[in-house]
Amino acid sequence: MSSNLIVQAPEGITKYSDRLSDPCIMVIFGASGDLTKRLLMPALFNLYCGGLLSSEFAIIGIAFDNLDTESFRKKMTEDIKKFNTRKVFDENQWNEFVEKLQYTQGDFSDPEAYKRLAVLINATEAKLKTEGNTLFYMATPPSVFELVSSNLQLSGVKNSEKGWVRAIFEKPFGHDLKSAVDLNRLLLKHWKEEQIYRIDHYLGKETVQNILAFRFANGIFEPLWNKENIDHIQFSVMETVGVESRGKYYETAGVLRDMIQNHMFQMLAYLCMEPPSSFKSDAIRNQKSELLDAVRIMTPEMVRTHTVRGQYGPGKKWDESPAPGYRQEPDVSPTSNTETFACLKLFIDNWRWDGVPIYLRSGKNLWKRGTEIMVQFKNPPDILSRGQSANNARVPNRLFFHIQPDQGIELRVQGKSPGPTMSTQTINMRFDYSESFESSRGTGYEVLLYNCMIGDATLFSRTDLVETAWRIAQPIFDVWEKEPASDFPNYPAGGWGPKKTYDLIENDGRNWVEVVSRDVLEKIPLFKDTGKIFLYNLAINLRPDIYAPGDFIIKKGEVGTEMFIISSGSVEVLDEQGKIINTMSDGAFFGELSLLNASPRTASIRATSDCDIFILAKKDFDRVLKTYPEFLGKIKKIAEERYKVKLPTA
Ligand code: BG6
Repeated sequence: MSSNLIVQAPEGITKYSDRLSDPCIMVIFGASGDLTKRLLMPALFNLYCGGLLSSEFAIIGIAFDNLDTESFRKKMTEDIKKFNTRKVFDENQWNEFVEKLQYTQGDFSDPEAYKRLAVLINATEAKLKTEGNTLFYMATPPSVFELVSSNLQLSGVKNSEKGWVRAIFEKPFGHDLKSAVDLNRLLLKHWKEEQIYRIDHYLGKETVQNILAFRFANGIFEPLWNKENIDHIQFSVMETVGVESRGKYYETAGVLRDMIQNHMFQMLAYLCMEPPSSFKSDAIRNQKSELLDAVRIMTPEMVRTHTVRGQYGPGKKWDESPAPGYRQEPDVSPTSNTETFACLKLFIDNWRWDGVPIYLRSGKNLWKRGTEIMVQFKNPPDILSRGQSANNARVPNRLFFHIQPDQGIELRVQGKSPGPTMSTQTINMRFDYSESFESSRGTGYEVLLYNCMIGDATLFSRTDLVETAWRIAQPIFDVWEKEPASDFPNYPAGGWGPKKTYDLIENDGRNWVEVVSRDVLEKIPLFKDTGKIFLYNLAINLRPDIYAPGDFIIKKGEVGTEMFIISSGSVEVLDEQGKIINTMSDGAFFGELSLLNASPRTASIRATSDCDIFILAKKDFDRVLKTYPEFLGKIKKIAEERYKVKLPTA
């Protein structure tokens, strides 16, 4: 078999490779579980179909379930129909692939099981000439990592004299700093560092890997990538799913352990690390580790002021169906204090980032699904509006990494809007994966498995990085544990998260920049049928904010320059005497009169529930209108009917 064939990458890997995976036997511990059927088999099958798997390759599944090779193959054949990610599923190819699967039943604590495994490995190796290369995949809870590792050692199964032996471990890597250090110590008793491959599936995402390519394969960004030019950075991982059937696990985890301490810190390291001297595994891993090492460790006081935690209460799913609160989910305590949302403000104490705030937030059961990184540059000097009649706000440049579900990179800059005056508006330059590359959908595991099989550990976490990440999170766990949240649940399912998340960033004079998709806006009746360009412009100009029950959003008599659109929640309209004269909820809008004729507010509006609100400022309204002037007529008509006034024609 030639090893320098140019082979087309399978769905799920968009790069081209000139290298097949090394011949090897992959042993999956926990092969009858969820991970194997949902991710590992589809990923391995994608690699096979893409021609990246060596033909000297075999899989041996081992688990407690009473299966044999035949029934295991049958089970995988049923499951792949559901979980494969191929555009067209080729039955013939699967029938060839399934021949590579074998199974041996075994209790992980039973030495006999390892003897049977050894016999199977030896026989397979003799048949396939896999050169002694063996990959152990621990698709098991971390509690058995040590048991399996020591039994593999005792039975001699992992002590191959020739070839390589590697082990892939699934998260969580510990529960806190101490348990992570203990676990690492145990693993290092049985494996050498270079044999350990810790999977973080975020690092298998094309768009996450592209952060590195984007930063270091282009000359224009590196000189700007520092405190002189960057004002702050936002990382958001928003999920629309709740904890579903994972309550038992989630009760012991919470979002800080489940998403932030691992996936988000990995992205943070990629985005902010120093340039590596090469793209070799250790060159990159050293820089990542150094970066996390420079993150300021919070004091208890900082935890109180620089973090926010949340838990969802009952609400609605993104598709409007009712959603239970976290405390009502299966296997969750009715008084649970586990956080399903968290937001942190971090600082990196090094020369590059000194003083630049890094905001991270992640949560379950939110209004939209989206993983985004936003780098906000410093404001330009205010020269455009000097001596000009046009209203030109100073707007900073923003660079977005759209990780998922949209995949792309976008730079928002100011440009001149067409017309006789020098007036500017936000425009964007955007690269979309789906437009530039043949789009393919994989599981994200293809690239990780393939890299492990060729011995490239770049995308896997080293011991030092795992421990450093826990070191950053530990003081937060300590304070949160000692001081349970008294306001849980503090955001409704389907909402934007706790209000305090907005206060945290607004107190610094900044705002969360929400990536609002057109779909979200189209759900609001006012914006229906307004057109693609208008909605696009609107989306990038809306400012989101959250109000708690009882908060006044506008007060009668004030001169306002903003209109408000309720994404979710309800408000009441009060007259001068404080009498309720109307109520409004999802999709309604108010405050438009002040935009249209700059008159004082005619009533007060008070939130009666948690309210997630889009705010459109007058200057942006004027700009947005240029792309769809008819909108002015539409909104005027509504205002005239509502307030029984006659507004001047433009
Ligand atoms: C997992 C977490 O690691 O990542 C889940 O345990 C979370 O709770 C998932 O939903 C998110 O992954 P993705 O790829 O959907 O962003």
